[in-house]
Amino acid sequence: MIWRPFTQEKITPPPVKIVRGEGMYLISENGNRYLDMISSWFVNVHGHAHPEIAEVVSNQAKTLEHVIFTRFSHDPAEKLVENLGQIIPKKLSRYFFSDNGSTAVEVALKMAYQYFKNIGKTDRDLFLSLGGGYYGDTFGAMSVAGINSKYHATFSPLFFKTIMVDVPEYHDGAESMEKKESEIIHNLEQTLEKIGNKVCAIILEPLVQGSFGMRLYRSEFLEKVVNKVMEYDILVIFDEIMTGFYRTGKMFAMNYLNITPDFVCLSKGLSGGFLPLALTVTSEKIYDAFISDDRRKTFLHGHSYTANPIACAAACKSLEILQRRETISKVEEITKFHETHDVPKAVKRRKIGTIMAFEAESEDRANFIIDKAWENGIFLRPLGKTIYLFPPYCVNKDDMAKTYNVINRYL
Ligand SMILES: Cc1ncc(COP(=O)(O)O)c(C=O)c1O
Repeated sequence: MIWRPFTQEKITPPPVKIVRGEGMYLISENGNRYLDMISSWFVNVHGHAHPEIAEVVSNQAKTLEHVIFTRFSHDPAEKLVENLGQIIPKKLSRYFFSDNGSTAVEVALKMAYQYFKNIGKTDRDLFLSLGGGYYGDTFGAMSVAGINSKYHATFSPLFFKTIMVDVPEYHDGAESMEKKESEIIHNLEQTLEKIGNKVCAIILEPLVQGSFGMRLYRSEFLEKVVNKVMEYDILVIFDEIMTGFYRTGKMFAMNYLNITPDFVCLSKGLSGGFLPLALTVTSEKIYDAFISDDRRKTFLHGHSYTANPIACAAACKSLEILQRRETISKVEEITKFHETHDVPKAVKRRKIGTIMAFEAESEDRANFIIDKAWENGIFLRPLGKTIYLFPPYCVNKDDMAKTYNVINRYL
């Protein structure tokens, strides 16, 4: 029998068996069609079973399905790195593969930590992160989400020490952001004066904190935080696992900023939602600290499916489709739809690029709306009392209008 992820089996109905994916739609064994308005946990940027990606996956499977990625390399991985190199800031030129978002984060945390050990600064044992973030479910990722994380509290006695920076939530109609932001920056300055030299890295989801509630914050605030921590030589890790690949309206959320981090973590949309794949991208400065005759300075980390050729081939094709004018137009169209359509009864409505979120008055009300959407053939998932839309880019205006109508009818 199957045990489902993130599911309380006692109160959740049995799963619906999906037999086919087709663009926006998931099609069940009974022939029911569900609009996938959350891109199946943020992964399907182009929708389901995109024929061009399916074709390269099939061809690659017949040519080279997998190979250990230590003594060997292959074209799909090299091509992917070359193609990403055209769109990722030049400072980030070293690509470390793994196979899911949590491991991309673990890799960044471990690299940051070992970097300081390797250069002889052995007392940088602390991490900083923005409160209310989500970085995955492995121990490092849970630790940096902090002890107040609603998903991970059971394990908090086992976490390593992470200091949380408050996040000033931004939404439509929010006022006095500058005041709230300056207070937080002031507190951060005081914390850094005391322990700044003991911190190895800060990790954050740039501009949108996803799985804890699709919370937005302003780029001005983020730039101030990053500039401040950089004064203490603290390394900066951007988790773009959810925000990457045009989700926020630009290729990466970091494209809204005048700063480049030391690490960026990518996964989810990277392979177009076809196969598990992840990257931790960093600079030559970090890489060089691991190059040594002393074998203890090696980065001793790897996963069996590292840089799987089929996943890399899917990612190359997905990236090519993403960069087409028609895909960018679709992203602009979704962004415009959110901007021009109202959810009058929504609390704390926020939107950026293809993402729209708001709060219902209670968790019960949020669940009620999700149920009503389901009855209308629309698949949504609440985050507490937050409801969010995160559609694949093949969504059309009718699908969007239908979803907005159902939300407005039952909110
Ligand atoms: C921002 C962010 N980081 C990391 C992860 C973890 O990714 P995965 O579920 O592939 O381990 C997620 C998953 O939702 C995420 O949204």
